[in-house]
Amino acid sequence: MHKIIDNNFVKSLVDKLRHTGTEPAEFYRITTIISQILAYEALRNAEFSRASIPIWTGNSYEATIIDQRKLVILPILRAGIGMLDGVRHLLPAAQVQVLGMYRNEDTLKPIWYYNKLPESMHTLHAILIDPMLATGGSLCDAVRELKRRDSYQITVLSIVASPEGIKKLEAEAPEINIFVAALDEKLNENGYIIPGLGDAGDRIFNT
Ligand code: PRP
Ligand code: URA
Repeated sequence: MHKIIDNNFVKSLVDKLRHTGTEPAEFYRITTIISQILAYEALRNAEFSRASIPIWTGNSYEATIIDQRKLVILPILRAGIGMLDGVRHLLPAAQVQVLGMYRNEDTLKPIWYYNKLPESMHTLHAILIDPMLATGGSLCDAVRELKRRDSYQITVLSIVASPEGIKKLEAEAPEINIFVAALDEKLNENGYIIPGLGDAGDRIFNT
């Protein structure tokens, strides 16, 4: 399943990211807001439990509780780090694991440089965060690692996706849930999303 956030406020935020005049500090601030909105959408139907809590009337109340210990947030280095604060703001008690990979700009294939995932993740719902879903190679690789570790649910949060990337990811793992703020037109011959944001990592980190 993939869901595009169909909301003019979100569109206006993504369009601020597209603007070449948006400086890195503002780019990062907007990325944080969009990440929170994506996480909110993804958690709309998250598993919850009920627990009795005391409230001001002196009676107890059946509260809704999201068990954050079942959640692991996984930013894909480096640009995914730009989404981490926003998602953690909503889920401060979730576990965080980082995945290090970069895309070889000639082959467009991901090259791994950091993976310290635990051997089994069967008790964990994994939330992968990466602002760009371009060819889909990086997220497909990440999903494969999580499936190998039996993560019981996988969710992907991306700011901008290409149709090609969504198709590839859904073919790799039809069972996962993908939330994106904007579905763009296409990839160019260099594997960049058009219209896209340019190099998201460079813009977030001012490099
Ligand atoms: C970008 C982006 C994704 C990947 C998307 O990272 O953050 O991880 O490219 O491309 P794909 O869908 O074609 O795999 P990049 O390799 O530029 O590294 P960076 O985050 O370190 O800048
Ligand atoms: N990585 C980016 O940062 N942007 C793209 O459009 C594709 C890959």
